Amino acid sequence: MRRLLVTGGAGFIGSNFIRYWVSRYPDDRVVNLDALTYAGNLENLSDIESEAGYRFVRGDITDRVTVRGLLEEEEIDTVVNFAAESHVDRSILGPDAFIRTNVQGTFTLLEATRSVWKDFSAAQRFLHVSTDEVYGSLAPDEAPFTETHGYAPNSPYSASKAASDHLVRAYHQTYGMPVVTTNCSNNYGPYQFPEKLIPLVLLNALEGKPIPVYGDGMNVRDWLYVEDHCRGIEVVINDGITGQVYNIGGENEWYNIDIVKLICNRLDELQPGTAPYRDQITFVKDRPGHDRRYAIDSGKMRDELGWTPAHDFASGIERTIRWYLEHREWCDRVRSGEYQHYYEQQYGQPAD
Ligand code: NAD
Ligand code: DAU
Repeated sequence: MRRLLVTGGAGFIGSNFIRYWVSRYPDDRVVNLDALTYAGNLENLSDIESEAGYRFVRGDITDRVTVRGLLEEEEIDTVVNFAAESHVDRSILGPDAFIRTNVQGTFTLLEATRSVWKDFSAAQRFLHVSTDEVYGSLAPDEAPFTETHGYAPNSPYSASKAASDHLVRAYHQTYGMPVVTTNCSNNYGPYQFPEKLIPLVLLNALEGKPIPVYGDGMNVRDWLYVEDHCRGIEVVINDGITGQVYNIGGENEWYNIDIVKLICNRLDELQPGTAPYRDQITFVKDRPGHDRRYAIDSGKMRDELGWTPAHDFASGIERTIRWYLEHREWCDRVRSGEYQHYYEQQYGQPAD
């Protein structure tokens, strides 16, 4: 039986991870520490909130007293750090929160964990959830990112994640802390906040708004269904080697414009409007510093830990589209409040 502290568990991937973990390991203790920023919604976990082993604590990973207290009181042996500011466009508009949470927050978690765990044991594990964006941008013909690819972050978001990765590495090298880091490609699936490409396209299409495509739409992302990421984290917690880094990806590269058109075409079939949804596609000013291409080489996960994605893109995107069609109220609720202000700043027009 494990005792997990999951940070950022009310967000997109964190909530999918907690649901997955509770179903796989019902006897484990899972403590979810989340500050409930605009991106954190307890509704994401309403179906598991009454599970005996689950506890939610509203708190900030930059608050060392809270983190220490939980580690001691709950006798945590496994930390899974999802908590982050995660949206690149927001990091361009205002980087401060990214440095605070992603850098200072990870540092605080590391320090609190080091001081509570003291003599590290084989039963302890600190898993840091990171991103492929730390490696920078690939040329069209370049080989996908392996774990030894150099770091070259290009946005305040990716730079803050890179800084946190370096701190995690240093805590292993210097103090022998039992850390593992995962660097994953773009996730998609249920509960993704609608500021990110796939849900934004879906909702803007259905709501008759312009579908904003940055630049020429030819940037490439490597998409992975969120549950496959959660399974990847599971195998790294269970069988990963301390101090190692594992790249997790879908080996599923798409041009942005092709994903946008695919979603529009499927919506035309599932919920036809008066005109084809692709008529709403609008090319807008590019994201500053926009990385051209990401692609992950998952060979280490496959060869050393036996992990491969279970969902192909056709089934994953179908489930995702249907989930958003069936959860329009969730979308309305999470977009109320602060999101309206962000949308207007980013796209120069009101969200409603
Ligand atoms: P998200 O923005 O949906 O969720 C982030 C969560 O962290 C929210 O619940 C938020 O309330 C919480 N949080 C933010 N600041 C906090 C703080 N100071 N203290 C405590 N909680 C705080 O993010 P996501 O897309 O689920 O990403 C989760 C993690 O996975 C991040 O570390 C991100 O860098 C990484 N990642 C994301 C993707 C992706 O495609 N979404 C891919 C690779 C890696
Ligand atoms: O690669 C992993 C990363 O994937 C994670 O670390 C980040 O947390 C996550 O947000 C995601 O970053 P991206 O910037 O790749 O995701 P986003 O959904 O914001 O954008 C995907 C692509 O679509 C990117 O090339 C920018 C483009 N885009 C995005 C938006 C929001 C548009 O063309 N129009 C838009 O309105």
